[in-house]
Amino acid sequence: MTKDKMYGFPISSVFFQIFGFIFLLLILFLTFILDSLIGSSIVFFFILIFWYIFVFHFKQRFSTLRNKILQSMISLADLNGSEKILDLGTGAGYVAIGFSKVVNSGLVVGVDKFDQTTSILGSNFFEELKINFFGNSLNQAKKNAYIEKQSNQIMFVKSDLKHFFPFSDESFHVILSSQFLYCIPTKKRDRVLAEINRVLKPEGKLIFFESKKYVNWDIAHVEQYFNKLNYETKIHSIYYMNNKCIFYGYKKNS
Ligand SMILES: C[S@@+](CC[C@H](N)C(=O)[O-])C[C@H]1O[C@@H](n2cnc3c(N)ncnc32)[C@H](O)[C@@H]1O
Repeated sequence: MTKDKMYGFPISSVFFQIFGFIFLLLILFLTFILDSLIGSSIVFFFILIFWYIFVFHFKQRFSTLRNKILQSMISLADLNGSEKILDLGTGAGYVAIGFSKVVNSGLVVGVDKFDQTTSILGSNFFEELKINFFGNSLNQAKKNAYIEKQSNQIMFVKSDLKHFFPFSDESFHVILSSQFLYCIPTKKRDRVLAEINRVLKPEGKLIFFESKKYVNWDIAHVEQYFNKLNYETKIHSIYYMNNKCIFYGYKKNS
């Protein structure tokens, strides 16, 4: 097993790099026309810029922001360390593994359908294109947990959550999502929200990092849904990410 953890990267970064590559080709073409030492220096200069902007800077910024969000989610959860936690659409396990480091005597369960790499070529292309991360596979999630020495604290389950959640009623203290809920087609969304309510214990917490609005998605719908079920809710804005938020829900024991 290698030592490299890999938490996936958004599809937008792939486009970013493709455009960067096209840009490089244009520069090469220019050099070919100029055919000179100046031309070669220009190419070298642009290769450096390309690498910095499209690869290094993007990755650095992405992982810094991700870690900031994870820490905010952990602090909102206000854990005592013995909780049973469910992470929906766990992907390569970034959020689940982050939480598992805090629950020493608890357990984190990460669920995902783990099949976007094949379905991306299928009929659901545009749905997948919107949000899915590359690199989210069951093997990668397990490998990340192993590298981060969290294998005993975490369990990954493969399941399509659109249909039902493979857990009994009131089995989790905390339910997490990070960029998952808006992957669910609009027609299935309330069913997924009902499943979330079913498997959450009384006095349990919901912590969802999601977009505020996106095509047919609006976090206000999630808030209304749980308000009707008598949850205490709050949408926390994220000042460094305008269109994202952290939804907090508390299931009152009534
Ligand atoms: C944008 S990724 C986010 C991954 C992870 N939560 C993170 O923040 O790194 C969305 C994830 O949701 C999963 N997903 C989408 N629809 C799903 C479904 N119906 N059932 C289970 N997982 C699903 C995808 O496979 C993908 O890994």
